[in-house]
Amino acid sequence: MNIKAYAKINLTLDILGLRDDGFHELGSVTAPISLYDSVSVEKSDTNVFKCDLPELRGDDNFCVRARDAFFARTGITQPVTIKLQKHIPYPAGLGGGSADAAAVLNGLNSLFGEPLSADELYETGAQVGSDVPMCMLGKCALCQGRGEKLTVLSGMPKLYITVAIGEGRLPTAKVFKEYDASGARPTGFTDGFIKAVEAGDEKAMLASMGNGFTDICARLCPETKEMRAKLRSCGAKAAVLSGSGPAVYGVFENEQAAMDAAREMRQKGFFAVNCETM
Ligand code: C5P
Repeated sequence: MNIKAYAKINLTLDILGLRDDGFHELGSVTAPISLYDSVSVEKSDTNVFKCDLPELRGDDNFCVRARDAFFARTGITQPVTIKLQKHIPYPAGLGGGSADAAAVLNGLNSLFGEPLSADELYETGAQVGSDVPMCMLGKCALCQGRGEKLTVLSGMPKLYITVAIGEGRLPTAKVFKEYDASGARPTGFTDGFIKAVEAGDEKAMLASMGNGFTDICARLCPETKEMRAKLRSCGAKAAVLSGSGPAVYGVFENEQAAMDAAREMRQKGFFAVNCETM
């Protein structure tokens, strides 16, 4: 069984405070995008995990963690072979690992005749990572709590985007830690964004997009600021950091404009692809 594991972008991200469990309370609107890793799951004689990138073949891979969480929850012992082909940059703030885990959980649940209900599957996903339930949902959503409390957001227009990333990479935990140490105050992008979507006001929606990690990521990885400026000079109506970075994206008028911007960003030496929200 072949599954597409779609990346996500954060249209807004507010870090609202540090919780007793060490995680942060978040308010974020996320959307899946048409950039994906390819995952396959099949029954086999022994448990096997294969990945085209050698550095991702370890037992700490999200695919393996998702498989083990599924087996623990269901009691299933039939071994499986999981194959992963990476296309989503990592760690980038694009939810690549979480998307892979979501694909494995959805895939295994189908392969074994749906032993878990949708709620049980989300709970199992949340044990693997905060963003896994959102990736399993596969729709634009308001994400609260650790990121695992989801409310589907309807009325979102399709956005034509170009995702860009340079040489730098930022592990999520490090960005949260540096953010705390910086003493930054919580941002409030999400409420305004949702109101704008509900009112069907695209201009206000674009104006209210933003990410509370923007300043700390610009300090840790200055090219994030440079890439956002370059996307704007390519005609982006908004240029925003995704998740804990360092991937950024620009929102463009149409597919052609996004494609042209991706080409220009690649000419400037960045990894860039045009895609769309789903
Ligand atoms: O949940 P996940 O394993 O993806 O999170 C990775 C790291 O990001 C956590 O170990 C934690 O340091 C940080 N994190 C956080 N608050 C969240 C989500 C993630 O502090 N809501």
